[in-house]
Amino acid sequence: MDLSPLKNARILVTGGAGFIGNNLIRRLLQNDVSQIVIMDNQSSGMAVFLPNDPRIIFVGMDIDKMDKLNFVINQHEFDYVFHLAAHFANQNSVDHPFSDIQTNIVGTVGLLEILKFHKSLRKFVYASSSCVYGTATEMNEETFIYPSETPYSINKYTAELYTQYYAHLFHVPTVSIRIFNTYGPYELAGKYRNVIPNFIEKALNGEDLVITGTGRETRDFTFVDDLVDLMLRAAISPSREGDIFNGGTGQKTEILHMAEIIKEVTGSQSNIVFKPARNWDKVKDRMSNTSKSAKELGYQPNVKIREGLEKTIKWYMDNYDKVKSLKNYFE
Ligand SMILES: NC(=O)c1ccc[n+]([C@@H]2O[C@H](COP(=O)([O-])OP(=O)(O)OC[C@H]3O[C@@H](n4cnc5c(N)ncnc54)[C@H](O)[C@@H]3O)[C@@H](O)[C@H]2O)c1
Repeated sequence: MDLSPLKNARILVTGGAGFIGNNLIRRLLQNDVSQIVIMDNQSSGMAVFLPNDPRIIFVGMDIDKMDKLNFVINQHEFDYVFHLAAHFANQNSVDHPFSDIQTNIVGTVGLLEILKFHKSLRKFVYASSSCVYGTATEMNEETFIYPSETPYSINKYTAELYTQYYAHLFHVPTVSIRIFNTYGPYELAGKYRNVIPNFIEKALNGEDLVITGTGRETRDFTFVDDLVDLMLRAAISPSREGDIFNGGTGQKTEILHMAEIIKEVTGSQSNIVFKPARNWDKVKDRMSNTSKSAKELGYQPNVKIREGLEKTIKWYMDNYDKVKSLKNYFE
């Protein structure tokens, strides 16, 4: 992929201290961008893992505070915006529906309201979610969707609709990536975090790996390097304003199989135990159709689940002291 359009680019990454942000920022720095402004309130990410690079400016702030947002954005002329900041994720939104609206809708609309006047902007990449598909069986970008399972699914979809509204009415060059369960380095375990970092931590501590469901449910687990590759492709592509792309692998993995790989790679004696599925979780199988991303963006995810888990576990173990010192950070 020719990433030369990123050379000397000025970039805003909201939520850049989070899991995907940490991986994205490392890739951006490798591609000679001139500046990266990160906006993050560190509610579910931590600046402590960010690389030490003079091109990074970290601004600790809430993206739903319009005055500060205006002040910071209007000091810059951004070429690209990656909007990753989010109130994460389903269970958190069930427990805290108002803060979900605040960050995921109000924060997104605030950004777009300001950026509609920024003519330098080449692309606004919005991190949407596969949960917008709800219980749809075919998950391609043309599928009619009407998510209502959790506030998070409603709000991630609503924000996606806003990216289209701003694209169509104000020609803000937005693109949305519907991200399927992503995993990799820089994601720590926590009450509201994804299953993989939680299982890795439990496996390393010899605690039970609790599957909510039968374990035969499937998910399209996507290694973060593949997702970042797709985000960069979407950023530099001449995609249509308001376009949408799936960010998955097109492969499904049973939760039980994933848990068994983690046990094996960590050499853990943990037991795998089962509990009833959470009442909002009605999706048995989730797998992306990546045809459009492949055809229009040349996206080719190539990290298989076992390889991705091995890399993730290696990162976790290499950084174990730091990770341990931060334990309970997000509880
Ligand atoms: N990780 C996944 O599997 C996955 C799946 C689907 C969609 N996504 C989306 O991708 C994006 C990044 O996800 P992630 O896994 O890196 O999550 P993350 O929680 O690690 O990162 C989100 C970041 O946003 C910050 N943040 C939250 N609220 C904020 C606010 N009001 N103001 C400023 N910063 C705020 C957090 O501190 C965190 O650093 C999110 O938009 C998420 O909805 C992720």
